[in-house]
This record gives sequence, C-alpha cells and structure tokens, in this order.
Amino acid sequence: MAGARPGVELAARVVDPALYESDPHPLFAALRAEAPVAWNEERGFWAVTTHEEVTRVEGDHETFCASRGILVDEIGTTYPSPPTILHSDPPAHTRYRRLVQPGFKPSVVKALDPVVRARAEALVSRLEPGEVLDVVPLLAVPLPLLVISEMLGVPEEDWERCYEWSEAVVPGAVDWPEERKQALMAEMVDYLVGATKARRAEPRHDVLSELALAELDGEQLSDAELAMFLVQLLVAGNETTRNLIAAGLVALAERPDQYARLREDPTLVPSGVEELLRWTSPVLSFMRTATRPTELRGVPIAEGDPLLMLFVSANRDETVFGPDAGLLDVGRRPNPHIAFGFGNHFCLGAALARLEGRVVLEAILGRFAGLEVAGAVERTGSHVVAGMRKAELRFGAA
Ligand code: HEM
Repeated sequence: MAGARPGVELAARVVDPALYESDPHPLFAALRAEAPVAWNEERGFWAVTTHEEVTRVEGDHETFCASRGILVDEIGTTYPSPPTILHSDPPAHTRYRRLVQPGFKPSVVKALDPVVRARAEALVSRLEPGEVLDVVPLLAVPLPLLVISEMLGVPEEDWERCYEWSEAVVPGAVDWPEERKQALMAEMVDYLVGATKARRAEPRHDVLSELALAELDGEQLSDAELAMFLVQLLVAGNETTRNLIAAGLVALAERPDQYARLREDPTLVPSGVEELLRWTSPVLSFMRTATRPTELRGVPIAEGDPLLMLFVSANRDETVFGPDAGLLDVGRRPNPHIAFGFGNHFCLGAALARLEGRVVLEAILGRFAGLEVAGAVERTGSHVVAGMRKAELRFGAA
C-alpha cells in the first residue's frame, strides 16, 4: 500500500540531519512542485510543504490533532497527560491557553521593552568592530535567556543552567549522551516546579507566581501541570529567538544591500523582523496526527497517519510570496509567513520574540555601518529548530 503513496523518494530526506546542516531549500522547492503531500516511508509520516496545506492542517484541530505528538520522534507514543501545552487539543488546550495568556499579553510585553532594550544594548556594546565574533554565544544565546528568566522570575545567576536545560530538551540541538539529557531534564523540572511552589507562600510579580496561584477547574496546578507550562515557557522562548537573532544576522551579512536599506530607513525595522522570521523559520516543523480518514490536496490520508508541517518550506512558497519568495526583502508587504504557526497553537510568545528581534536590530543598526560573514557558520542537523552552533561575523564601525 505504502509504495503507492506519492513523493516517497523526495520525502526520504526531510528528517535527515545532513539536509539541515546545509541548504534544505532546493529539496523543499522540489517537494512543493512535485509532491506537496509526500510520504516518508522510513518513519511513516506525510511531509506537508505548501503554505495552503500547512495552514489547513494547523487550522483544523478536529481532523489533525496535536495530542498524539508534535515531533516525528513521538510517533507511536501515548501520554497520560500532555507533556506540553503544544501537545493538547481543545477543550483542554483552550483552558491551558487562558491560564498562561495573561502573562504574555501586549501590555505585559510592552512593559518589558526597557528591560529588553537595556539587556540588548549591554550585549551589543561589547561587540568590537573589526573583530571576528561568534554572535551565537555573545548575543543570540544570552539575550532570550536573560529575558525569559526575568519574565519567569528565575534569578539571573541561574540562567546558564537554563541554557543547558533547554539544550537538553530540543531534539538534535546537542549531541550529549541521552543519560545526561535525561538528568538535565529531571533537574530542570525539579528546579522550576520547586521554585514555583515556593511562590505559593511568597508570591512576587512574575510568571512563576502567576502559575503558582493559578487554578484549573477550581484546583491549584499539579506538579505535572506546572512542569508542562514551565518547561514549555523556558524552552520555547530560548532556542527559537536565539536562532532568529543568529540566523537573521547571518542573512543580513549575506545581503549588505538589505542591511543598508534598514540603516537608511529605520521605519523598515518591523517589516525587516517579519522578513527575517520568514527567512530563518526558527521552528522548522511540527507534527499532527489525523483523527479520521481525510484527504489533503487530493492525497488520501488514513486515520492515525502523522503529518509533518514544514513551516520552513511554506515560508518560501512561491504561490504565496511570489516569484521572489527566495529573495530576502526587508520591506516585504504583505508578509503572511507562518513562522509562529497558525490557528489555536499560534505562538504565545510572538509579541515578545518580535520585540527582541526589533530591539537587537535597532541596537546593531545604530552602532555598526555594516556586517559580513568572517568565519564559520554552522547549523545543527535538527529538523525541528533551525539551530545555529556558530555564526562568525565582523561588524564595521559606524
Ligand atoms: C522567534 C521566536 C519564536 C518562534 C519562531 C516561535 C514559533 C512557534 C511556533 C511555530 C509555535 C507552534 C505554533 C503552532 O503549532 O501553530 C509556537 C508555540 C508556542 N510558543 Fe513560540 N516561537 C518563538 C518564541 C517564543 C517565545 C519568546 C515564547 C515565550 C516564552 C514562546 C512560547 C510559545 C508557547 C508557549 C507556544 C505554545 C502555544 C500553544 O500551544 O498554544 N515562543 N511558537
């Protein structure tokens, strides 16, 4: 049966680490053109690569559920309760979302502006013009960690532990032994759940306190529920924003004309950030599972079939972004990218990530006349998060 499914040869490589260490876009262009819904024989899932089909899957949680896993590594796994909010479907998802949303509403994010700006300015002021600098450890790793630690209420001295914890959670981010990753994950849960429960006696103005005092159906959150929210909040905001910053700066270094445009007209910064989100797609893909037989672009999908939604490909779809979909254009409007997903799971931290992107860009544009790739640019092989290991750039004095 599976042999009759379309796109088997092309889809064979969509979770191959080597693909993401180099340029995956030629393969995605071929998939969009020849088999937008293609079967990966080895792991048993559909690779969905066009904007229209990815948004269709994202927009129909009754036919395509999240609770049977969001990663290819989870195919066949069942959970007694959702390990993250991303693994939940309505009505539970709606209740979870209502609970954490207040911590991320626009007024809260706006109030964070000076904090984010001060952190970004401090980090950028240490970048010396003319030197070869790896912006991953110098800027892209610390900024989101400092911001999310501050928002959650984790003391600053613990942010380096947060770094190790979040690395351990994202599949393919690091090649540490499995036992080390498991130990770090257990340590993370203990630390965060412990810190939150301590807030029940002494609440403060932070997200840990909000979760500590929150109630679902009249009851305080259980340890499993607290762990679910905390791990998600810590990890979701780090790996992603880090890669927007690192890969976004590499993209601008490769396109000096676009950097110059932003310098000349800083009102383009917001559309520039949207374009860098589209271009870098920090979350490459997430999965859903069909809850009933259906069809997608004429391809029959069976009940129980997993579908991998490749945001990274949808964000270069020529039918939506036009013939210059493969070009970086910091003034692009409209820009209906789906780097933050679509539908009920739309990224909760989108406003915060946009703020961080804007603030970093403004700090860099204000200080440096230009930037160029000056050494190694290394990507991880993850097909989930567009991880950057190294991004060596040189900044030009203003
Ligand atoms: C450039 C940075 C970021 C990108 C590209 C990004 C991308 C995404 C994507 C693609 C999803 C899944 C959407 C879906 O399935 O439809 C998501 C969900 C989520 N993101 Fe982000 N994210 C970023 C930053 C953040 C930040 C800073 C936070 C805050 C801590 C955050 C918190 C979350 C949460 C909690 C969810 C789950 C929402 C739900 O299931 O309802 N993200 N994000």
